Amino acid sequence: MNFLRLSELDLAGKRVFIRADFNVPFNTDGSLADDTRIRATLPAIRHCLDAGAAVMITSHLGRPAEGALTAADSLAPVAAALSALLGRPVPLIQGWTSGHFRVQPGEVVLLENCRGNVGEKADDPRLAARIARFIDIYVNDAFGTAHRKECTLHALALAAPVACAGPLMTAELDALGRALAQPARPLAAIVAGSKVSTKLTILESLADKVDVLVLGGGIANTFLAARGCEVGASLHEPDLLEAARRVERRLAERGGVVWLPEDVVIADRFAADADVRISDAERVPAGWMILDIGPKSRDSLAAVLARAGTIVWNGPVGVFEFDAFAAGTRCLAEAIAASPAYSIAGGGDTLAAIARFGVGERIDYISTGGGAFLEFLEGRELPAVAALRARARPASRRIEPVPQFEHEPEPS
Ligand code: 3PG
Ligand code: MG
Repeated sequence: MNFLRLSELDLAGKRVFIRADFNVPFNTDGSLADDTRIRATLPAIRHCLDAGAAVMITSHLGRPAEGALTAADSLAPVAAALSALLGRPVPLIQGWTSGHFRVQPGEVVLLENCRGNVGEKADDPRLAARIARFIDIYVNDAFGTAHRKECTLHALALAAPVACAGPLMTAELDALGRALAQPARPLAAIVAGSKVSTKLTILESLADKVDVLVLGGGIANTFLAARGCEVGASLHEPDLLEAARRVERRLAERGGVVWLPEDVVIADRFAADADVRISDAERVPAGWMILDIGPKSRDSLAAVLARAGTIVWNGPVGVFEFDAFAAGTRCLAEAIAASPAYSIAGGGDTLAAIARFGVGERIDYISTGGGAFLEFLEGRELPAVAALRARARPASRRIEPVPQFEHEPEPS
């Protein structure tokens, strides 16, 4: 991957601006539900502080209206979490695009929710120019948001004196690139979710790359229906049967296979306490729905994954939130963990499954990206990465001497 990396730069005395992805979930009482994304950015922050930089970090949180942030949109809980993790104060700065705030070398400040700035979502170059005036080095460590073309991800990367990738961004791109560019074979991808329609481009792109495409959830049901199986009342998309057949054909032409369950766990309704049976996947009785893969399928899936060289995992194969339909996803998680294959996983549901079944330590790489992870799998160029690449071209790679603290901070 051709872009400048944070580790290559001399940061002493520099004003370093880090774009992170602190778009984290909260509990109903306002406390943080998961701080993975915050902890994942600590190496970048510590590296800059240790090198003697004056560190500014920002992130978006949610999807607020520009110019109208409310208390619920504030990064205040993130500032508190960061402060606890770093063991030092992390002041939260409002109205920061003026550059009128104080941060000295060896200090770190958090800049309030960047999606509150007018021009952020439109990738406004004027907003980028305003921010670029008070920074020396721009660092993008926000892999989770790399699929958005917004000011602090794209225009600012182009406008800043120097733009580089942080260690999290670098690790994500290395891990995903390694899994898809030169994978140890067989390459198995697990793609599960409710609808083929939302993942059709991913399925088509993977059909050109993988050796085994393991499908789960409503996606698998649509592929079963496309093979002529009776899926009963299972979630599926009758208008996408031809699209499903196209994916199977494309894969078959390359000698690959779509893995589908031979037996399934079915229920008479979508509920934790529904009546449950095991059924042949070819003939689900009318009125019943598939909510998990069956015991024979669990064994066959585990065998496929044991033989894989590389595994890419996105999505559970059953409704694992309900105990009665959790066995398939548990087996999947444990089979990936036990496989000698290089394994990467990403996406919200997948992270929840990894946590529930306690296999996190045994997955080789867990992405912090949801949408960004999926767009990478689709083979799309992520706008934030494209901007870093553009800056890595020889002419723009030279580090211009930037006057230190050219923008005189106002006393706070
Ligand atoms: C995410 O959580 O998927 C990223 O932070 C991107 O957020 P967005 O979907 O609101 O752009
Ligand atoms: Mg999202």
